[in-house]
Amino acid sequence: MSINVHIKGLGHHVPEKILSNQDLEKIVDTSDEWITSRTGISNRHIVEDETCVDLAYEASLKALKKAGLEADDLTHIIVATFTGDRPLPSASCLLMERLGIKQKAAMDIAAACSGFVYGLETARAFIALHPESKILVVGSEILTSRVNWKDRSTCVLFGDGAGAAVLTGDDGAEHDGKLLDVVISADGALSMALAIKGGGSALPYHLGDNVGEEYFIEMRGREVFKHAVRNMASISKEVLARHGYTTDDVDVLVPHQANQRIIEAVGKKLSIPVEKVFSNVSRFGNTSAASIPIALSEAKEIGAIKEGDLVLVTTFGGGLTWGSALLQF
Ligand code: UT7
Repeated sequence: MSINVHIKGLGHHVPEKILSNQDLEKIVDTSDEWITSRTGISNRHIVEDETCVDLAYEASLKALKKAGLEADDLTHIIVATFTGDRPLPSASCLLMERLGIKQKAAMDIAAACSGFVYGLETARAFIALHPESKILVVGSEILTSRVNWKDRSTCVLFGDGAGAAVLTGDDGAEHDGKLLDVVISADGALSMALAIKGGGSALPYHLGDNVGEEYFIEMRGREVFKHAVRNMASISKEVLARHGYTTDDVDVLVPHQANQRIIEAVGKKLSIPVEKVFSNVSRFGNTSAASIPIALSEAKEIGAIKEGDLVLVTTFGGGLTWGSALLQF
């Protein structure tokens, strides 16, 4: 089914404070050399007192400004996150309140790092049903609130940030780009490869309990790495094939910013030359659901994505979940 979905504006926001590899050397048994050679990450932005909704709000304002729309023009707010301000209410309802609007649809998406791409597909479905929709899709994460700072295998990887996009159907106005297609997938059999085991109904909090390490991110890194490369490459080929494209047609590849070695391996598997592969993981680390919209917004802002470019987005995360999107600017 062909649906006209336009990207009217993109925006991103990261907290001011930077946590460097050298700062981490003082917290855990690690080294700048290990982190840069294994992940490509040098710095990540981390919050001091801002919340997920604070970052989402700033990114949303920028996306709305680029779109030339007021918050009240929106019909739906979708926030992808697993680090919302509170378990209840949703981050999207809190964001709506912060934007000073009401009586819009609001929902959060739980698909970990793939959440923004899942959000794009959800927005496409809303637009197919209601072509007049104006939808804000946000990925916002405070990963540092769920990091075990004693676990060197995970705490060096993550950062905080938010990115947002405003999507509409055909409205006769000027647009940034077109969202041509999205494909999403998941495999629950590998759910414990990347998980926060505690804090849900399977392992609830009890009043007075100590907070153990089961309430923070745990990951079997090597296993996740393998699946990430394989699934991002195959779902990318799938979305391209649906439109008769091959990887030669791609002008810019925007992969989930988890690890430079994963980014390079996906580019290589797709035979997309390194100069067409966008990466900012060295400055932001892995910001989960915020990674793709931050990368898209920044790539557009600095001219790495130009008018006429065919952009392939691909993502991977806990669940396990993965997906790809095809954009035409
Ligand atoms: O957002 C999507 C989800 N996340 C990802 O996509 C991440 C996927 N996985 C990865 O990016 C990589 O697997 C990591 C970066 C997490 C780890 O890299 P690796 O090359 O797979 O390392 P490893 O886990 O196999 O560990 C190698 C060694 C171990 O030591 P021994 O057992 O060989 O002596 C670890 O203990 O490196 C050690 N190590 C560290 N050393 C210094 C693990 N973390 C650190 C650290 N500093 N921070």
